[in-house]
Amino acid sequence: MRTQVAIIGAGPAGLLLSHLLHLNGIESVVLESRTRADIEATIRAGVLEQGSMHTLVEAGVGERMRKEGALHHGFELAFDGKRHRVDLLELTGKAITVYPQHEVIIDLVAARIAAQGQLLFETSEVAIHDIGSARPSVSFVHKGESRRIDADFVVGCDGFHGVSRQMIPHSLRQDFQRTYPFGWFGILVESAPSSEELIYARHERGFALVSTRSPTVQRLYLQCDPHDRVDQWSDDRIWSELHARLDNQDGWQVKEGRIFQKNVIGMRSFVCAPMRSGRLFLAGDAAHIVPPTGAKGMNLAISDVRLLAAALDGFYRQGRWEALDSYSEIALQRVWRAEYFSWWMTRLLHTFPDATPFERELQLAELRNVVSSRALRTALAENYVGAF
Ligand code: FAD
Ligand code: DHB
Repeated sequence: MRTQVAIIGAGPAGLLLSHLLHLNGIESVVLESRTRADIEATIRAGVLEQGSMHTLVEAGVGERMRKEGALHHGFELAFDGKRHRVDLLELTGKAITVYPQHEVIIDLVAARIAAQGQLLFETSEVAIHDIGSARPSVSFVHKGESRRIDADFVVGCDGFHGVSRQMIPHSLRQDFQRTYPFGWFGILVESAPSSEELIYARHERGFALVSTRSPTVQRLYLQCDPHDRVDQWSDDRIWSELHARLDNQDGWQVKEGRIFQKNVIGMRSFVCAPMRSGRLFLAGDAAHIVPPTGAKGMNLAISDVRLLAAALDGFYRQGRWEALDSYSEIALQRVWRAEYFSWWMTRLLHTFPDATPFERELQLAELRNVVSSRALRTALAENYVGAF
């Protein structure tokens, strides 16, 4: 098989890249290790920045998002039993959309299939070859058969645990990493929304987040031990912890309902630099991870591939290497800003097991500063909506 761009991984990064290339008349093949049903059902991110929404709409895959996604003009910070609104629209002129990642995946897969794009599910033994030459290739097994794709470029969109990043020799790359001493326990609940807007809550018992999925399904998270197992959290334990962390002095309470999905999410910050070696480029979680507090992961994946698709277009249209050569440096500038913001939000809102009483008071003082200063709220809002 021969193609122009071989893409590994059918997450938001791989699928959107393949679609953007197609719109520019560039051929690609996407290899995915899981089944279509599996990628379309995995519950992950929920927040799309305005720039990400715009990219999806421009690419012709934003129709359902516009209809079914919920546009949010602000969110709330909760601490000391009180809530404080951050008015994104007023502070930045921008908004975000709550639209689940698996719905983005469903829309992108449908668009790739409608355009007769090559999307191979359940591939295994994926290996990348000759990235230092002008003819890189990818070998893999599909439906019991060993196959190979020759390509001009290979793009690793295979997430944090994929094979692509490992192709960049340790001597040429630097990995930056921090793991956090807590995780998030995520649930999906059948109930009406507890709140019109997202609530990020800081509490001595740990962080909690109220998000939403639809008028009848809600998404809630609470800080937990990163080694917790789902079976250690009964429904009663979850509700009593959520009430303790979220219910406030005005009598507002989080709404209960049937919990139909539970998962534990580890938290880390990670950056691999550079995001390229020879004819191999990395995009999305394959190159960087942020803790979910800033809602940046899927948005970074989208901005990486927007940049890379334009660079590949410059190459195929005009034979220009400049944008491909500067891809890693430019992408990493945005990545580091998102890393900084995600780390800052995480530090501001979580209970660190080793924090001294002095550090806990500083955290509260910082929160009070943020909600009382328009300048600090503006900086927070600009970062949250991705206005950089
Ligand atoms: P992935 O989505 O991980 O896709 C990689 C794909 O590659 C997978 O389908 C995988 O099966 C496939 N793959 C892996 N290895 C191979 C291989 N060897 N061969 C073939 N295929 C392979 N981000 C936000 O922007 N906003 C949020 O609100 C947000 N909330 C989050 C909440 C949670 C609970 C979690 C876990 C994450 C959240 N994120 C959020 C992060 C976001 O989900 C990720 O950043 C995003 O999925 C990255 O997309 P990707 O395409 O780079 O990687
Ligand atoms: C959601 C996830 C996040 O990480 C976040 O910061 C906000 C919302 C969500 O899944 O809805």
